[in-house]
Amino acid sequence: MCSVKYSRIKGTGSYLPEKVLSNTDLEKMIDTTDQWIRDRTGIERRHIVGEDETTCDLAEMASRRAIEAAGINIEDIDLVIIATTTPDRIFPSTACLLQERLGIQKGAAFDVQAVCTGFVYALDIADKFIRTKSARTALVVGADALSRILDWSDRTTCVLFGDGAGAVVLSGSDESGVLSTHLHADGRYKDLLTVPAGISQGYEQVQSQNAFIHMDGREVFKKAVNTLGQLVDETLEANQMEKGDIDWLIPHQANIRIITATAKKLKMPMDRVVVTVQEHGNTSAASIPLALDVAVRDGRVKRGETLLLEAFGGGFTWGSALVKY
Ligand code: ACO
Repeated sequence: MCSVKYSRIKGTGSYLPEKVLSNTDLEKMIDTTDQWIRDRTGIERRHIVGEDETTCDLAEMASRRAIEAAGINIEDIDLVIIATTTPDRIFPSTACLLQERLGIQKGAAFDVQAVCTGFVYALDIADKFIRTKSARTALVVGADALSRILDWSDRTTCVLFGDGAGAVVLSGSDESGVLSTHLHADGRYKDLLTVPAGISQGYEQVQSQNAFIHMDGREVFKKAVNTLGQLVDETLEANQMEKGDIDWLIPHQANIRIITATAKKLKMPMDRVVVTVQEHGNTSAASIPLALDVAVRDGRVKRGETLLLEAFGGGFTWGSALVKY
């Protein structure tokens, strides 16, 4: 029997809803242009949930693909964590709903809310469960349906976001896996990127304009670029690694200009950076596992390579994970 020194990614999966909304479609809805959106964000299209489709539906599709890729039995899973900002219900957690759909009846299941950094938070928690032997096999999912909390008449936000899910199966190993994780938050920035409504403020709030994303894009952009630069240094230092030791940068997919700035800081050529933002916009917690799955399935990311995952989002929250795939 192997000793558990690390948690290791055994399989990945992802899912995008069928309905596609292109920049040209948006030109017909609001005062914008395909050119403006491409130039400022790199986004070409986004996928949007169907009328009856929910976050749990997206999470289920991504999870089944990850489980199949990992080659494990569903009964082996004894921890389910979903990072999401758009849960199906106030309670139970979307993780409990997913657990039931998959037929899992053991171990813990809970949601994590750290907005765009949610997947990195969830990975950190699952890694600790596995290394402390509190769980053996974890399903870690990032899933969001941000289209449900967009004001579709606000051109400064609605062009940026989309829906999707990504998942990984993580299990104990004596071979290198998750090498380190670094999580941060600073609630002083709560108003720069927020959906200010919440159920404890009264149900009428949830039916108001406050139930949509409000963002100071310029300030978020500046803070994200500076913070992600520092995060890269922190992660490398903690592992006594040099910039050149990273094989792939797999960033949160919010905006091509933020991604390019982080790659520049790492002195990383763009062909070592996984970029999928053009296909789906900012899918919040789903974006990193989605990008990872794309790069694993198209053969770019190979076993033994070193991956730097990093994210920044509402809170503000930010975090990174250095992973030997
Ligand atoms: N189409 C056309 N014009 C637009 C649009 C649009 N969709 N949205 C805004 N504009 C206009 C503005 O009204 C403004 O016009 P004005 O000069 O007449 O006032 C002009 O374009 C420039 O607006 P800015 O806000 O200065 O544009 P900027 O270059 O900062 O780009 C953007 C805006 C893309 C939102 C950028 O600030 C950004 O990416 N910020 C980060 C936001 C983000 O990624 N948030 C996600 C969560 S955090 C994270 O995941 C990292």
